[in-house]
Amino acid sequence: MNKNDDDKGLTPRQIVAELDKYIIGQDRAKKLVAIALRNRARRRCLHEDIREEVYPKNIIMIGPTGVGKTEIARRLSKLAYAPFVKVEATKYTEVGYVGRDVESMVRDLTEVGVNLVREEKTSEIRGRAEERASERLLDLLLPPPPHLSRSARQRKKGGEIVYDMEGLPEEEKERFERWLRTRQKIEQQLNDGLLEERDVEFEIQVQSGPMVEVLAGGPGLEEMGIDVKGLFEKMLPKKTKSVKMPVRDARRILTDEEVEKLLDMDKVIKEAVQRVEQSGIVFIDEIDKIAGRGTPGHGPDVSREGVQRDLLPIIEGSKVITKYGMVSTDHILFIAAGAFHQTKPSDLIPELQGRFPLRVELNDLGVEEYRRILTEPKNSLTKQYTALLATEGVNVIFTTDGIDEIARSAYEVNQRMENIGARRLYTIMERLLEDISFDAPHTDNKELTVNREFVQNTLSGIIQDEDLSKFIL
Ligand SMILES: Nc1ncnc2c1ncn2[C@@H]1O[C@H](COP(=O)(O)OP(=O)(O)OP(=O)(O)O)[C@@H](O)[C@H]1O
Ligand SMILES: [Mg+2]
Repeated sequence: MNKNDDDKGLTPRQIVAELDKYIIGQDRAKKLVAIALRNRARRRCLHEDIREEVYPKNIIMIGPTGVGKTEIARRLSKLAYAPFVKVEATKYTEVGYVGRDVESMVRDLTEVGVNLVREEKTSEIRGRAEERASERLLDLLLPPPPHLSRSARQRKKGGEIVYDMEGLPEEEKERFERWLRTRQKIEQQLNDGLLEERDVEFEIQVQSGPMVEVLAGGPGLEEMGIDVKGLFEKMLPKKTKSVKMPVRDARRILTDEEVEKLLDMDKVIKEAVQRVEQSGIVFIDEIDKIAGRGTPGHGPDVSREGVQRDLLPIIEGSKVITKYGMVSTDHILFIAAGAFHQTKPSDLIPELQGRFPLRVELNDLGVEEYRRILTEPKNSLTKQYTALLATEGVNVIFTTDGIDEIARSAYEVNQRMENIGARRLYTIMERLLEDISFDAPHTDNKELTVNREFVQNTLSGIIQDEDLSKFIL
């Protein structure tokens, strides 16, 4: 999967095609999130005047439990090429310093954005950092002769080194040239990987002690936009210590150090904040759990309506203080999801409903979907179990009628008891393969065929007995 040339990322069709690899059915939901994602990219191509006026169309996904809402979000995050966080609405209702404050979702998103941009920039400068690390390794393996002024060595633009020996006394010049020849030999050996086990000794900077973490860890300060840890680290004198290790390990550390030096963090942060503001996506799961104008006084929880009120300004667009500076939420895309069993979207406060103009319902899954979920996704359960047991030398074969039977049983149990959607497949599969999972590899039976008969025999006693199935399946 590649970014498109026009730098707008995947087209809606491509996004759906990617989602299809993991999620069966739920076509409309996939289509809507794909459009929403692409619209962010389209907006970025607009002229500034109109761009500011185009707000994201937030989405609510509604559907029973276990039909793929969270799964869509999880897969989407991998395709977004954008800062993406998934939060559970319920965590803002918990007690203990009022759960977490709602604005923390924007701070988390910004953190993700900074890491994203940082990684991108790092891969850009990695090559240069590696070169510089090699130079340092060479210096460690063969230190330059004493007295030789470092000014005799100059770094040229391309990273290649030229030596300026103009004006040096003759003998020093000679010594220098001898050193240079040896250095070239060692460089060759280094490149050929012959020196990987050789020890080198050098200075590294030590991280500030746990003291700083403790002092900086207090709540509240970050909310004020202060990077306490960073401040402390700047204030305390930098400590170094001498370490000794083989070249192969030293190279990694030295490269990381060079990356740090080459990385322009101010630029990274600036770009990251912009990326978050323009393309960030927040997925709010379990939004149904904060619906309802719940009367306060039911236990110690923060009122659900209170959380909705806190959410409102963020979703409507406001500025949140983060340790990377102000982040405006005007154009962040919010996708919410919830089962809405006990509540309805209309139980959300009206202002919040208005901020989620797009509604999409996910369907209940049937036998046919279960059958496909068992086999089609890249990470389908049958593929997982086959691979797991293969590591024990056991060959598990799922026949077509076996899979039909599993799907049918899952559906039946869901109908008779609580409908937990595709999650039922997990409990059933686990039960089916319990014995072989336990016995492998101490078994002579190196092959297990999961056909209709096997499934029926293993499950029949349990499915018939309602009490038993409540516990086991
Ligand atoms: N349509 C589907 N296609 C493939 N796998 C699915 C589908 N629906 C559910 N699953 C699988 O079932 C499990 C549960 O799904 P998911 O977490 O998306 O449920 P949900 O809709 O978010 O439910 P809840 O409302 O309880 O949070 C996941 O591991 C997922 O792989
Ligand atoms: Mg979920």
